[in-house]
Amino acid sequence: LPDVWSPKLLAGKTVLLTAGAGYEAIDPVRGITNISSGQMGAALARACRRAGAAVRLVYGKMSVPLPAGLARAQQALSAREMLDAVMENLDGADVFVAVAAVADYRIANASAQKIKKSDAAPVLALAENPDILQTVAALPNAPFCVGFAAESENLLVHARAKRVKKNVPLLVANQVSDAMGKATNRIVLLDAFTETALPEMGKDDAADTIVRRIADLLPQTAL
Ligand code: CTP
Ligand code: CA
Repeated sequence: LPDVWSPKLLAGKTVLLTAGAGYEAIDPVRGITNISSGQMGAALARACRRAGAAVRLVYGKMSVPLPAGLARAQQALSAREMLDAVMENLDGADVFVAVAAVADYRIANASAQKIKKSDAAPVLALAENPDILQTVAALPNAPFCVGFAAESENLLVHARAKRVKKNVPLLVANQVSDAMGKATNRIVLLDAFTETALPEMGKDDAADTIVRRIADLLPQTAL
């Protein structure tokens, strides 16, 4: 894929990514997570690196090794921890890519001690988590923001609405069954003007395609 490496499409740029599955503790040994493997986020981090960017990764639960050559890497399991880590690593970032499958809700009544089995089943109360992507995209000096949409039905309808609601210039939409936990993906790229449906491909190839689109859309810095 020579057109990604020469010229290096993201040379001189800094990219911050989130990746992996969120984890919200119920008690010290249990929690709520999801089936994200971190493969797409790791592939995108590698693709950004190959394209010449300095890459910072904030990651939750990863079922694959961290990519090599990261400028910074920080684990953050819960949505609130991930938001804090993202804010701490935003300085100088030109691009923010939210790949992580963040939990929309946390446990409001999490227990500091292991919950003991008892006659009455425990009741978990949920509280809404902050939306990291939407928060970053709303900042006054927001980097170029890229979101993902994982849908199990009505992919394009939900993805279009998500891109507008979060106010991001580029959204990568995928069907949960095509993407999560798999080595391949079938993505649709949505920006304000075009929707590009791509065939199923390996996640490294999907990541290169996304990087090319980011480089095309990224506001050019004055020379
Ligand atoms: N996202 C985020 N913070 C959250 C939830 C989601 O940054 N608390 C980001 C994801 O990383 C992804 C995008 O928002 O880039 C869309 O995530 P998704 O779960 O598909 O959409 P939601 O807006 O959470 O809507 P829903 O789960 O109801 O489909
Ligand atoms: Ca969600």
